Amino acid sequence: MSILVTGGTGYIGSHTVIELLNNDQEVIVVDNFSNSKPEVLNRIHTITGKNVTFYQTNIEDKQAMAQIFKNHPVDLVIHFAGYKAVGESVEKPLKYYHNNLSGTITLLEVMQENQVKNIIFSSSATVYGEAHKAPFDESMPTGEASNPYGYTKLVLEKILQDLSYSDSEWSVTLLRYFNPIGAHHSGLIGEDPQGIPNNLMPYITQVAIGKRRELQVFGNDYPTHDGTGVRDYIHVVDLAQGHQKAISHNLKNKGVAIFNLGTGQGYSVLDLIRAFEKANQVQIPYQIVDRRPGDIAIAYANPERANQELNWRAQKNLYAMCLDSWNWQKKNPEGF
Ligand code: UFG
Repeated sequence: MSILVTGGTGYIGSHTVIELLNNDQEVIVVDNFSNSKPEVLNRIHTITGKNVTFYQTNIEDKQAMAQIFKNHPVDLVIHFAGYKAVGESVEKPLKYYHNNLSGTITLLEVMQENQVKNIIFSSSATVYGEAHKAPFDESMPTGEASNPYGYTKLVLEKILQDLSYSDSEWSVTLLRYFNPIGAHHSGLIGEDPQGIPNNLMPYITQVAIGKRRELQVFGNDYPTHDGTGVRDYIHVVDLAQGHQKAISHNLKNKGVAIFNLGTGQGYSVLDLIRAFEKANQVQIPYQIVDRRPGDIAIAYANPERANQELNWRAQKNLYAMCLDSWNWQKKNPEGF
């Protein structure tokens, strides 16, 4: 099977490419390195002993994308490429709407022109918005996003659904990720944020390694067991395996299928700090500051549908996630 992966050198993309290679899939990666490094490809080779076909291409470049589809038979596309920083999306909404929407539309046009109608899309738990109470399940209507990044996910889900209604040949799988953390156990690939990390785990690991003085905990007055925000942290390797499982479901079922990829278990910010300190025997100094605008109190998945229909279940616990995040950071203090 030949699978084209957009954004295949990013954090989730690279871990997914490894799972695909380990399952003997043929992989074509398209990435423009806007938020990743060429070194990722060497690391993937070291881990798997296998090569991917790689194109340094912007998915908005229709001609180049068309050529890739001419060069290779493609059975299915896994589409990760997109900007993902929530705060930056508030400051630069046009950048986000332009890249995430027009890049995806171009990709879909090229797929359609080449009769490739199987796609797995990286969506996000952010589409549930604030209207619902966790656990979130896929039958809930999607809510209002709190930032432009979140709206790009909502709109892209809608575009893919509309495409499927217009042409019943399409198989669309929407994977709604909760909070991926951790890294490949080799410590050779992991999350490599540019600049100041937005997300909790990379911030914690940078404090642990001495790059940042202390963590700011955004609010301790939420209605949770210790007042800090609760999230469903999932090991990125579990998340990657969810994609491998989604492939056969996608190929067997036309129409739209939606799956949460989460553990179903919520942990607070303080829970995560303590777990990290205990697992790795390091101290994480922190101070409580105001809430971060746009954050919700509690988000965790009902993962039952993916458990049943994909035969997938997250395997790794918070302890393993903390060990692997720290292992990656220690081995790569400056990232790739
Ligand atoms: N947090 C801190 N300090 C920090 C960073 C985060 O206290 O320096 C807290 C947040 O307030 C939140 C929790 O840690 O309670 C997790 O925050 P993250 O930024 O790691 O993750 P979010 O849940 O805010 O966002 C993530 C992804 C988004 C996605 C969203 C979907 O980053 O892309 O999940 O739920 F949209």
